[in-house]
Amino acid sequence: LQTEVSLAKAFQDDFLIGAAVNKRTIVSQSDLLKEHYNSLTAENEMKFESLHPEEHRYTFEEADRIAGFARENGMKLRGHTLVWHNQTPDWVFDDGNGGKAGRDLLLDRMKSHIETVVSRYKDTIYCWDVVNEAVTDEGAEWMRPTKWLHGIGEDYIEQAFRFAHEADPQALLFYNDYNECNPGKREKIYFMVKSLLEKGVPVHGIGLQAHWNLYDPSLGQIREAIERYASLGVKLQMTEMDVSMFAFDDRRTDLTEPTSEMMRLQEVRYKQFFELFREYKEVLTSVTFWGAADDYTWLDHFPVRGRKNWPLLFDTDQRPKDAVKTIIGQ
Ligand code: G3I
Repeated sequence: LQTEVSLAKAFQDDFLIGAAVNKRTIVSQSDLLKEHYNSLTAENEMKFESLHPEEHRYTFEEADRIAGFARENGMKLRGHTLVWHNQTPDWVFDDGNGGKAGRDLLLDRMKSHIETVVSRYKDTIYCWDVVNEAVTDEGAEWMRPTKWLHGIGEDYIEQAFRFAHEADPQALLFYNDYNECNPGKREKIYFMVKSLLEKGVPVHGIGLQAHWNLYDPSLGQIREAIERYASLGVKLQMTEMDVSMFAFDDRRTDLTEPTSEMMRLQEVRYKQFFELFREYKEVLTSVTFWGAADDYTWLDHFPVRGRKNWPLLFDTDQRPKDAVKTIIGQ
């Protein structure tokens, strides 16, 4: 199957179509990216540990290359991510004397990281995932117990948004999280963003990561999440979409290619998702996939290392799956 129509062009009146890229796929998938996507996100290259491995040393080479690719090809670029518990180097939380960095030191470091990174990409990055995954998945506690929380206190989230806004007042600032359609977690995210907005914190959007699979979440849960978040008056983006062929607790490793039943179910899921997304195009401004084609996906190593998965819209040869024609044609 060959599609003459580009995915990004098919949705140009609705929302951006993005893909996560990394230092390898920006080369190996370059033609596919230019043809079908009009927005990019760096999969790892703009995270704290990649950009700022030591206190007085920044490494921008890979991130600059991705930013350059986006500019040269007239693509939008999302920034991912400024403050996260993962992929952040230990030096950030150490005081340099064998102890833990205190609140003031941590806030200074957060501010200077955000200022440096956000100002550098001011002309290229139009929106940032300022804080990523700060909310717990289960239990009554709503804040994930991270070194940022323990070192600074609950206001670390609002401080991050304020620093980012100072560094680039034009940038759209997002809170980004996963399991966003699970009703319990959805409500925690909703109330957190609501209270930030009530305090006048510059939050402009919520990123729904959309790491979904053939069975979960249900369409109804997705609709409820979109409606609930949209009621806050912020923009929404699907920021890391993929549709795994395996249910979350399915650890089977015997498949070397997807079954025809999996392909059929995935096509139906994608069709339903894009029908739903179009209904909300006034509030949903971008749909980014966490990868461009099945030849590379983080899900090949999660939750089982080396277990192949086929979660995207283009196959391992970077050819469009039937699902592409289906969602474009509807
Ligand atoms: O860079 C090293 C490399 O030097 C080494 O040879 C290799 C050996 O395993 O590891 C490399 O680091 C890996 C890194 O990706 C770069 O490829 C890490 O082990 C691996 O854990 C890391 O995984 C990334 C993950 O975030 C880390 O949390 C995935 O690529 C990336 O797709 C994933 O992205 C996250 C989003 O940022 C936030 N939402 C969830 C999403 C999926 O987990």
